[in-house]
Amino acid sequence: MKLSITGKGGVGKTTVSSLLARVFAEEGRTVLAIDANPDANLATALGIPPEEASRITPVAEMKSFIEERTGAKPGVIGGYFKLNPKVDDIPERFAARVDGVKLIVLGTVKKGGAGCICPESAVLRALIGHLILGRKDVVIMDMDAGIEHLGRGTAKGIDAFIAVVEPGQRSVQTAQLVKQLARDIGVEHFYVVGSKVRNEEDREFIIRNMSGSKVIGFIGYHPEIAEADRLGKGVYEASGEAVEEARKIRESLERLYEEAHGEKKDS
Ligand SMILES: Nc1ncnc2c1ncn2[C@@H]1O[C@H](COP(=O)(O)OP(=O)(O)OP(=O)(O)O)[C@@H](O)[C@H]1O
Ligand SMILES: [Mg+2]
Repeated sequence: MKLSITGKGGVGKTTVSSLLARVFAEEGRTVLAIDANPDANLATALGIPPEEASRITPVAEMKSFIEERTGAKPGVIGGYFKLNPKVDDIPERFAARVDGVKLIVLGTVKKGGAGCICPESAVLRALIGHLILGRKDVVIMDMDAGIEHLGRGTAKGIDAFIAVVEPGQRSVQTAQLVKQLARDIGVEHFYVVGSKVRNEEDREFIIRNMSGSKVIGFIGYHPEIAEADRLGKGVYEASGEAVEEARKIRESLERLYEEAHGEKKDS
């Protein structure tokens, strides 16, 4: 199952990504978590201590590796380099590991003008393509609301875009935009996870404002999650209630996945 977690800044994408990664790993599944944020912090949410997390080198910053694989130095504009470099050994060589979850931090490509294609972005694109299309793992990608690394081919391999929505108009608007973007690049399934909900009213707000989209579950507002963030601790260890809620979301996802694949076989 390949999932992209998106939504407005600060809604709880990283929190939801870390919980889902851990509850899929609980089932004995091989889980690969991808941190695709410029400001990467999925590692600490997953429970990797901050000092250790800060030592993880994002793939985009592995200069000699990028040069070895593409034949060109990162940061150099122009010149020739391989557009489809070998990347399939990256997960085993470079992933950080926590409790059954492998984590890959992508890092950012410094932009050199519109649609810059440079050695770093060639490696990231090839890597995402490989992780989404070439592996059997559960893949959970913590993204921002943009989709820049996703080509159409890769997008087709994503089983679901999950927009995290908190009870508020702005996060609803971002989710609606993401839904459109997802559809434009050919992603078939778009789901909503409600985040930081405090009561029934909050749940109804999200369901009402995201009508037309399937709301597959909710993570309540749990002060211990915010507290864990302040202490640099993992979400899974911090909140048993959130873990229970995430397990329900996992079950919904598994059910929807089976339905979707059953449908494909019939048609
Ligand atoms: N369910 C929750 N209950 C309480 N606090 C939460 C919850 N979810 C997230 N938070 C807190 O809200 C803040 C933002 O959460 P998180 O980092 O998961 O959001 P994000 O969408 O990944 O943000 P960004 O856009 O910066 O990547 C953090 O301090 C986090 O601890
Ligand atoms: Mg985040």
